[in-house]
Amino acid sequence: SEPLRLGIAGLGTVGMGVVKIVQNHAALIEARSGRPVTISALCARDRTRDRGVDLSAYAWEDSATAVATRPDVDVFVELIGGDNGPAKAATEAAIAAGKDVVTANKALLAHHGQTLAEMAEAAGRVIRFEAAVAGGIPVVKALTEGMAANQMRRVMGVMNGTCNYILTRMENAGLPYDEVFEEARALGYLEADPNLDVGGIDAGHKLALLAAIAFGTRVSFDAVELEGIGRIAIEDIRHAADMGYRIKLLGVAQMTGRGLEQRMSPCLVPADSPLGQLQGGTNMVVLEGDSVGQIVLRGAGAGQGPTASAVMADVIDIARGTRLSTFGQPAARLTEPTPAKAAVA
Ligand code: NDP
Ligand code: HSE
Repeated sequence: SEPLRLGIAGLGTVGMGVVKIVQNHAALIEARSGRPVTISALCARDRTRDRGVDLSAYAWEDSATAVATRPDVDVFVELIGGDNGPAKAATEAAIAAGKDVVTANKALLAHHGQTLAEMAEAAGRVIRFEAAVAGGIPVVKALTEGMAANQMRRVMGVMNGTCNYILTRMENAGLPYDEVFEEARALGYLEADPNLDVGGIDAGHKLALLAAIAFGTRVSFDAVELEGIGRIAIEDIRHAADMGYRIKLLGVAQMTGRGLEQRMSPCLVPADSPLGQLQGGTNMVVLEGDSVGQIVLRGAGAGQGPTASAVMADVIDIARGTRLSTFGQPAARLTEPTPAKAAVA
């Protein structure tokens, strides 16, 4: 049968993870997809860099848009990042050229997901983003597929591994925030703009995307009440521990009588609860539906293997012929949410 041909823009942590899975699991992917999945073309900023994997079988393009619009590309895989710039331009070009899109880019979708999903649906294309929320944890699939028959009550969780690393390290080693922040930077955990992590913005992007699926509302990142972890002192952590609690950067989205509440902020959670027990860079997402009750998903929210695993799950879905809407229902049907905080103000 005809191969599904990928064009990949971005060959960093996630992009190279995707290339490795395509190369190393070709037979498994073909068996599960019913057709081969191949790579036609690639791009990154620096063509000369040795990325430790043989890329000579693939065409190299000078721009993401050139990859996205090639006739021999069926799916554009966007792994550059950023809510504007080349990632957005190439995604739009891909849709206009009749390609499906798979992305790990939560910033892009939190800001432009509604418009991009509408564009894709008008063109009969799909945009999938499993990797964008909680890395390797299949939370988007859990919501859009496994829990599709539920009225969702609440979505919550720890969705930024870097913040969880910083908070748990502060507690375990008794170190102040600034010292652990520098440690996280040295370990390469922080985003290029660290405020995306410690300001709660990255986790807020993820929460806004999950809320859109869970409640059938347009993505509304601007309505997420955000508070980061930068003001947490070691004394706060000690006092919490004395009372049997831990501080977690916790996201909660729920539909209340006042409207959609979306909050990402440091919260006290019981130390012996599943959320309280969450250590290091791990993520945990708790999904509550009216029929199924509570489902808890825990796993790697970042890293090469886990994130590429989620990207490839979307690719395999497309190879199988699954045509799911980006947010679980046609984008035009999503309703404008009433933000709970606006109702209070
Ligand atoms: P990296 O910084 O490791 O890689 C980014 C890649 O994009 C690099 O290969 C870079 O090229 C390339 N690039 C940058 N600008 C351009 C451009 N103008 N045109 C073409 N290529 C360009 O990022 P990650 O792999 O970590 O992240 C990719 C995406 O995945 C982001 O949206 C991120 O938020 C998301 N994500 C990442 C996770 C992770 O664990 N890392 C987890 C979940 C989501 P070069 O290599 O030459 O510099
Ligand atoms: N900076 C993010 C985190 C990467 O720490 O969770 C994964 O989205």
